[in-house]
Amino acid sequence: SKSLALSGKKVLVTAGPTYEPIDPVRFIGNHSSGKMGFDIANSLAKYGAEVYLVAGPTHLVTKEAGIRIIHVTSALEMYDACHRVFGEVDVVVAAAAVADYRPKYVADQKIKKNSEEFVIELEKNPDILASLGAIKKHQFLVGFALETENEEEYAKQKIKKKNLDLIVLNSLNDKGAGFGKPTNKVTFIDKDFNIQPMDLKSKEEVANDIVKKIIKHYE
Ligand code: C5P
Repeated sequence: SKSLALSGKKVLVTAGPTYEPIDPVRFIGNHSSGKMGFDIANSLAKYGAEVYLVAGPTHLVTKEAGIRIIHVTSALEMYDACHRVFGEVDVVVAAAAVADYRPKYVADQKIKKNSEEFVIELEKNPDILASLGAIKKHQFLVGFALETENEEEYAKQKIKKKNLDLIVLNSLNDKGAGFGKPTNKVTFIDKDFNIQPMDLKSKEEVANDIVKKIIKHYE
Protein backbone atom coordinates (compact mmCIF):
# COMPACT_ATOMS: atom_id res chain seq x y z
CA SER A 1 0.00 0.00 0.00
CA LYS A 2 1.22 3.50 -0.85
CA SER A 3 -0.09 4.95 2.40
CA LEU A 4 2.63 3.54 4.62
CA ALA A 5 5.53 5.79 5.65
CA LEU A 6 8.21 3.74 3.86
CA SER A 7 6.21 2.57 0.82
CA GLY A 8 8.43 2.60 -2.26
CA LYS A 9 11.63 2.66 -0.22
CA LYS A 10 14.22 -0.10 -0.50
CA VAL A 11 16.39 -0.89 2.50
CA LEU A 12 19.45 -3.10 2.91
CA VAL A 13 19.82 -4.56 6.39
CA THR A 14 22.78 -6.68 7.51
CA ALA A 15 22.35 -9.02 10.47
CA GLY A 16 23.97 -11.78 12.44
CA PRO A 17 27.53 -12.97 12.83
CA THR A 18 29.92 -14.04 10.11
CA TYR A 19 31.77 -17.37 10.12
CA GLU A 20 35.33 -17.26 8.80
CA PRO A 21 36.47 -20.67 7.54
CA ILE A 22 39.64 -22.34 8.82
CA ASP A 23 39.18 -25.66 7.00
CA PRO A 24 36.13 -27.57 5.63
CA VAL A 25 34.73 -28.22 9.14
CA ARG A 26 35.94 -25.30 11.29
CA PHE A 27 35.45 -21.57 11.49
CA ILE A 28 36.03 -18.47 13.62
CA GLY A 29 32.72 -16.89 14.65
CA ASN A 30 31.03 -14.76 17.30
CA HIS A 31 27.96 -14.86 19.54
CA SER A 32 25.76 -12.40 17.63
CA SER A 33 22.19 -13.78 17.49
CA GLY A 34 21.06 -11.57 14.62
CA LYS A 35 17.99 -10.48 16.62
CA MET A 36 18.55 -6.73 16.35
CA GLY A 37 18.86 -6.87 12.55
CA PHE A 38 15.86 -9.17 12.14
CA ASP A 39 13.74 -6.90 14.38
CA ILE A 40 14.79 -3.90 12.26
CA ALA A 41 13.94 -5.75 9.03
CA ASN A 42 10.50 -6.70 10.39
CA SER A 43 9.78 -3.15 11.56
CA LEU A 44 10.87 -1.64 8.21
CA ALA A 45 8.59 -4.08 6.36
CA LYS A 46 5.65 -3.13 8.63
CA TYR A 47 6.09 0.47 7.45
CA GLY A 48 5.96 -0.65 3.83
CA ALA A 49 9.67 -0.81 2.94
CA GLU A 50 11.06 -3.45 0.59
CA VAL A 51 13.85 -5.07 2.55
CA TYR A 52 16.96 -6.96 1.50
CA LEU A 53 18.13 -8.75 4.62
CA VAL A 54 21.69 -10.01 4.22
CA ALA A 55 22.09 -12.42 7.10
CA GLY A 56 25.02 -14.39 8.45
CA PRO A 57 24.43 -17.82 10.02
CA THR A 58 21.34 -17.69 12.30
CA HIS A 59 18.23 -19.74 12.99
CA LEU A 60 15.98 -16.69 13.05
CA VAL A 61 13.15 -16.32 10.56
CA THR A 62 11.45 -13.17 9.30
CA LYS A 63 7.87 -12.34 10.32
CA GLU A 64 6.73 -9.96 7.60
CA ALA A 65 6.09 -10.08 3.86
CA GLY A 66 8.32 -7.79 1.82
CA ILE A 67 11.62 -9.10 3.15
CA ARG A 68 14.02 -10.85 0.78
CA ILE A 69 16.56 -12.74 2.82
CA ILE A 70 20.02 -13.38 1.37
CA HIS A 71 21.92 -15.97 3.39
CA VAL A 72 25.69 -15.61 3.60
CA THR A 73 28.39 -17.21 5.72
CA SER A 74 31.60 -15.18 5.67
CA ALA A 75 32.40 -11.46 5.70
CA LEU A 76 33.56 -11.62 2.07
CA GLU A 77 30.24 -13.17 1.03
CA MET A 78 28.38 -10.49 3.00
CA TYR A 79 30.48 -7.82 1.29
CA ASP A 80 29.59 -9.18 -2.18
CA ALA A 81 25.87 -9.52 -1.38
CA CYS A 82 25.71 -5.94 -0.04
CA HIS A 83 27.49 -4.47 -3.05
CA ARG A 84 25.19 -6.35 -5.45
CA VAL A 85 22.08 -4.60 -4.06
CA PHE A 86 23.51 -1.26 -2.87
CA GLY A 87 22.78 0.62 -6.10
CA GLU A 88 19.07 -0.16 -5.77
CA VAL A 89 18.55 0.86 -2.16
CA ASP A 90 17.66 4.11 -0.37
CA VAL A 91 18.75 3.13 3.13
CA VAL A 92 21.31 0.80 4.70
CA VAL A 93 21.15 -0.42 8.29
CA ALA A 94 24.30 -2.36 9.17
CA ALA A 95 23.50 -4.45 12.25
CA ALA A 96 25.78 -7.41 11.45
CA ALA A 97 28.64 -8.36 13.75
CA VAL A 98 31.16 -8.79 10.96
CA ALA A 99 34.40 -10.56 11.90
CA ASP A 100 37.28 -8.08 11.80
CA TYR A 101 39.73 -10.77 10.64
CA ARG A 102 39.65 -14.03 8.66
CA PRO A 103 42.15 -16.88 8.37
CA LYS A 104 44.64 -15.96 5.67
CA TYR A 105 44.76 -19.51 4.32
CA VAL A 106 41.79 -21.92 4.26
CA ALA A 107 42.88 -25.56 4.29
CA ASP A 108 41.36 -27.80 1.58
CA GLN A 109 41.29 -30.76 3.96
CA LYS A 110 40.47 -31.07 7.65
CA ILE A 111 43.56 -30.01 9.62
CA LYS A 112 45.07 -32.91 11.64
CA LYS A 113 46.09 -32.49 15.28
CA ASN A 114 49.81 -33.16 14.93
CA SER A 115 51.77 -30.41 16.65
CA GLU A 116 51.37 -29.19 20.26
CA GLU A 117 50.91 -25.63 19.06
CA PHE A 118 49.01 -24.39 16.10
CA VAL A 119 48.98 -20.83 14.80
CA ILE A 120 46.32 -19.39 12.54
CA GLU A 121 47.45 -16.35 10.59
CA LEU A 122 44.67 -13.77 10.16
CA GLU A 123 44.14 -10.97 7.69
CA LYS A 124 41.79 -8.01 7.91
CA ASN A 125 38.30 -8.27 6.47
CA PRO A 126 36.97 -5.33 4.46
CA ASP A 127 34.77 -2.90 6.41
CA ILE A 128 31.48 -3.44 4.56
CA LEU A 129 29.73 -0.34 5.89
CA ALA A 130 32.73 1.93 5.25
CA SER A 131 33.01 0.57 1.69
CA LEU A 132 29.35 1.51 1.09
CA GLY A 133 29.88 4.91 2.73
CA ALA A 134 32.75 5.56 0.33
CA ILE A 135 30.49 5.13 -2.74
CA LYS A 136 27.17 6.39 -1.38
CA LYS A 137 25.11 8.87 -3.38
CA HIS A 138 21.57 9.48 -2.03
CA GLN A 139 21.63 6.58 0.45
CA PHE A 140 20.93 7.12 4.17
CA LEU A 141 23.45 5.02 6.11
CA VAL A 142 22.89 3.75 9.65
CA GLY A 143 25.62 1.98 11.60
CA PHE A 144 26.05 0.55 15.08
CA ALA A 145 28.82 1.13 17.58
CA LEU A 146 29.64 -0.87 20.67
CA GLU A 147 32.40 0.59 22.79
CA THR A 148 33.64 0.10 26.34
CA GLU A 149 35.28 3.53 26.76
CA ASN A 150 35.09 7.03 25.21
CA GLU A 151 31.92 5.77 23.54
CA GLU A 152 30.65 9.08 22.15
CA GLU A 153 34.05 10.15 20.88
CA TYR A 154 34.64 6.83 19.08
CA ALA A 155 31.09 6.90 17.71
CA LYS A 156 31.65 10.36 16.22
CA GLN A 157 34.90 9.18 14.64
CA LYS A 158 32.98 6.24 13.15
CA ILE A 159 30.40 8.57 11.60
CA LYS A 160 33.20 10.43 9.81
CA LYS A 161 35.30 7.41 8.88
CA LYS A 162 32.36 5.43 7.45
CA ASN A 163 30.45 8.45 6.06
CA LEU A 164 27.30 7.65 8.08
CA ASP A 165 24.09 9.61 8.59
CA LEU A 166 23.22 8.04 11.92
CA ILE A 167 24.95 5.84 14.45
CA VAL A 168 23.29 3.72 17.11
CA LEU A 169 25.56 3.56 20.11
CA ASN A 170 25.08 0.51 22.34
CA SER A 171 25.84 1.26 25.96
CA LEU A 172 27.61 -1.64 27.65
CA ASN A 173 27.74 0.40 30.86
CA ASP A 174 23.99 0.05 31.32
CA LYS A 175 22.61 -3.01 33.08
CA GLY A 176 20.30 -5.08 30.91
CA ALA A 177 21.83 -3.91 27.64
CA GLY A 178 23.84 -5.82 25.08
CA PHE A 179 24.72 -9.28 23.80
CA GLY A 180 22.24 -12.08 24.35
CA LYS A 181 19.89 -9.86 26.37
CA PRO A 182 16.31 -9.11 25.27
CA THR A 183 16.76 -5.41 26.01
CA ASN A 184 19.01 -2.65 24.76
CA LYS A 185 19.91 0.88 25.81
CA VAL A 186 21.07 2.99 22.90
CA THR A 187 22.10 6.55 22.14
CA PHE A 188 21.52 8.04 18.70
CA ILE A 189 24.19 10.31 17.24
CA ASP A 190 23.51 11.90 13.87
CA LYS A 191 25.96 13.26 11.30
CA ASP A 192 25.73 16.74 12.85
CA PHE A 193 26.70 15.13 16.19
CA ASN A 194 23.30 15.68 17.83
CA ILE A 195 23.19 13.24 20.73
CA GLN A 196 19.94 11.59 21.84
CA PRO A 197 20.08 9.07 24.71
CA MET A 198 17.15 6.62 24.76
CA ASP A 199 15.65 4.60 27.64
CA LEU A 200 16.25 0.90 28.25
CA LYS A 201 13.80 -0.91 25.95
CA SER A 202 13.11 -4.26 24.32
CA LYS A 203 15.04 -4.87 21.09
CA GLU A 204 11.74 -4.67 19.18
CA GLU A 205 11.16 -1.18 20.57
CA VAL A 206 14.75 -0.14 19.80
CA ALA A 207 14.23 -1.43 16.25
CA ASN A 208 11.07 0.70 16.01
CA ASP A 209 12.94 3.78 17.26
CA ILE A 210 15.60 3.28 14.57
CA VAL A 211 12.92 2.93 11.89
CA LYS A 212 11.19 6.09 13.16
CA LYS A 213 14.49 7.96 12.71
CA ILE A 214 14.59 6.76 9.09
CA ILE A 215 10.98 7.84 8.55
CA LYS A 216 11.78 11.28 9.98
CA HIS A 217 14.59 11.66 7.44
CA TYR A 218 12.03 11.38 4.61
CA GLU A 219 9.44 13.76 6.14
O1 C5P B 1 34.17 -0.45 13.28
P1 C5P B 1 33.10 -1.22 14.03
O2 C5P B 1 33.17 -2.70 13.79
O3 C5P B 1 33.01 -0.85 15.47
O4 C5P B 1 31.75 -0.68 13.34
C1 C5P B 1 30.52 -1.28 13.59
C2 C5P B 1 29.58 -0.96 12.45
O5 C5P B 1 30.20 -1.23 11.18
C3 C5P B 1 28.36 -1.85 12.46
O6 C5P B 1 27.29 -1.11 11.88
C4 C5P B 1 28.79 -3.04 11.60
O7 C5P B 1 27.70 -3.72 11.05
C5 C5P B 1 29.64 -2.36 10.53
N1 C5P B 1 30.76 -3.18 10.03
C6 C5P B 1 30.77 -3.65 8.72
N2 C5P B 1 31.84 -4.38 8.26
C7 C5P B 1 32.89 -4.66 9.06
C8 C5P B 1 32.89 -4.20 10.39
C9 C5P B 1 31.81 -3.46 10.86
O8 C5P B 1 29.80 -3.39 7.97
N3 C5P B 1 33.91 -5.38 8.57
